[in-house]
Amino acid sequence: MFAKFSSVLLLATLTLATPVFKITGCNVQTEKPNLPSGQTMLTVPSGEVVENIALGVGVQNYTCSSAGTFTSVGAVAELIDVSCLAGSPIFGSLTTDAFEIFNASNAITVTDVIDALGSSFVVLGQHYFVTNPFTGSGVSPTFDFRAASKKGDPNAFVIANKTGDIPAPTGSQDVDWLELTGAIGDLAKHVFRIDTKAGQAPLSCTPGAFFSTKYTAQYWFYNGTTTKH
Ligand SMILES: *[C@@H]1O[C@H](CO)[C@@H](O)[C@H](O)[C@H]1NC(C)=O
Ligand SMILES: *[C@@H]1O[C@H](CO)[C@@H](O)[C@H](O)[C@H]1NC(C)=O
Ligand SMILES: *[C@@H]1O[C@H](CO)[C@@H](O)[C@H](O)[C@H]1NC(C)=O
Ligand SMILES: *[C@@H]1O[C@H](CO)[C@@H](O)[C@H](O)[C@H]1NC(C)=O
Repeated sequence: MFAKFSSVLLLATLTLATPVFKITGCNVQTEKPNLPSGQTMLTVPSGEVVENIALGVGVQNYTCSSAGTFTSVGAVAELIDVSCLAGSPIFGSLTTDAFEIFNASNAITVTDVIDALGSSFVVLGQHYFVTNPFTGSGVSPTFDFRAASKKGDPNAFVIANKTGDIPAPTGSQDVDWLELTGAIGDLAKHVFRIDTKAGQAPLSCTPGAFFSTKYTAQYWFYNGTTTKH
């Protein structure tokens, strides 16, 4: 019962015991994502550097096709700045710990999870989907910091193409790890979704059904050209 909160308690200890502990805006340029070896779908392009690392807390949505299988219709998530936790003892289990808090009951909201992490955590922005701007059908992942950490910068968003996809190394219950390539907007040239926890739909369904399920993930943002702050 207490184990699931241990990382959050450790975090609280860190923040209380260390007056200089920074909670947002840490430089993560030397951090490397822990990508599985023996695959080439997800690779950080040479010369690109990570600028933000976010914990995504939200839902994955699906509708059931006429074939009786769920199709993704997008996700909605808050993106919390966890750059300052990179390299700390709690970083590796962050998505699991956050998910366990989030999934402890249906009534627990994204805001509750942010509160559990600590009130000083900063929401960088939002993750959602828009109609694919190139094909006009299907949806494209969007990351948007304009209403949060980059207010006033009209280009602080990115609509991305999925350019790499591997099953989560942690198992089929977790949504895939992805490489996304920025197509419109200045927020990032690449975004990686890694360290996913949950978010998958059941294998079969009744055509027309809607399914929405909680998930957490880390999102790594590379080489944006938005206004720095
Ligand atoms: C990525 O950003 C870094 C730091 O701003 C810069 O030195 C590098 O040239 C950029 N790389 C690419 C491929 O744009
Ligand atoms: C989330 O909670 C639901 C309801 O208690 C449970 O059925 C499900 O297995 C949990 N998900 C994970 C991935 O633990
Ligand atoms: C994104 O995909 C569209 C086609 O769906 C393509 O026209 C566009 O060039 C792609 N952008 C990048 C940056 O890969
Ligand atoms: C996803 O599902 C949630 C309910 O869990 C809903 O609030 C949200 O509007 C849905 N978003 C999309 C794009 O379907």
